[in-house]
Amino acid sequence: MMFSRQIKIAPSILSADFANFGAECRAIEAQGADWVHVDVMDGHFVPNITFGPATCAAIRPHIKGVMDVHLMIAPVDAYIEAFAQAGADVISAHLEAGPHIHRTLQAIRGAGAKAGLAINPGTPVEAVEYLLDMVDLVCVMTVNPGFGGQKFIHSQVAKVAKLRAMIGDRPVHIEIDGGVTVETAPLVAAAGADVLVAGSAVFKGGSVGDPAPYGVNIAAIRAAAEGAV
Ligand code: DX5
Ligand code: ZN
Repeated sequence: MMFSRQIKIAPSILSADFANFGAECRAIEAQGADWVHVDVMDGHFVPNITFGPATCAAIRPHIKGVMDVHLMIAPVDAYIEAFAQAGADVISAHLEAGPHIHRTLQAIRGAGAKAGLAINPGTPVEAVEYLLDMVDLVCVMTVNPGFGGQKFIHSQVAKVAKLRAMIGDRPVHIEIDGGVTVETAPLVAAAGADVLVAGSAVFKGGSVGDPAPYGVNIAAIRAAAEGAV
């Protein structure tokens, strides 16, 4: 993974056909996705359950590029090795998932993956200050985690701008997750984000059998974001 601040579109397979993950991953990459975003939920840290490391390992061969695993689970540490073994390139853990996020980030890098730090809408950006030298990505949640298709929380745009200033010239990606659309992508891109996760806005109108709309949606979000930077 070469570091770059170019806009990257990361479709979330939370909005894909759960019975067809392999084909969906191949389809979104063929339609222009840069990264594939994989949402892991435990029914405890967030009020929804998706899947675990076995599913990540099963879809890995269907992804040529970056597999970006977003862990919405608590506790986290006991599962890091399994997600790294499953082939995750980036593993993001939530700052709110436990008292020892510093140790968690060390463990992610120790397992050979890029370390991502996700923060909920209610968490102040200052909370990441002493962690910035040990992360490769900060994921700013622009919805409360747990479900796709929620409304973008506009107050987070100012947080992204503050975070961009705090990061300075460190090679740390800013990822936006939740409610990213053609309308909201330019706001966060202008504020300094470079990885845009989008679930419903990418998968709407398409299917495994008719994936062309995925490409239209990805291109539209990318063009809107690039037009703002
Ligand atoms: C929310 C997930 C997101 C979600 C985004 O908990 O982390 O990745 O799938 O979905 P949309 O783009 O539909 O808001
Ligand atoms: Zn996510």
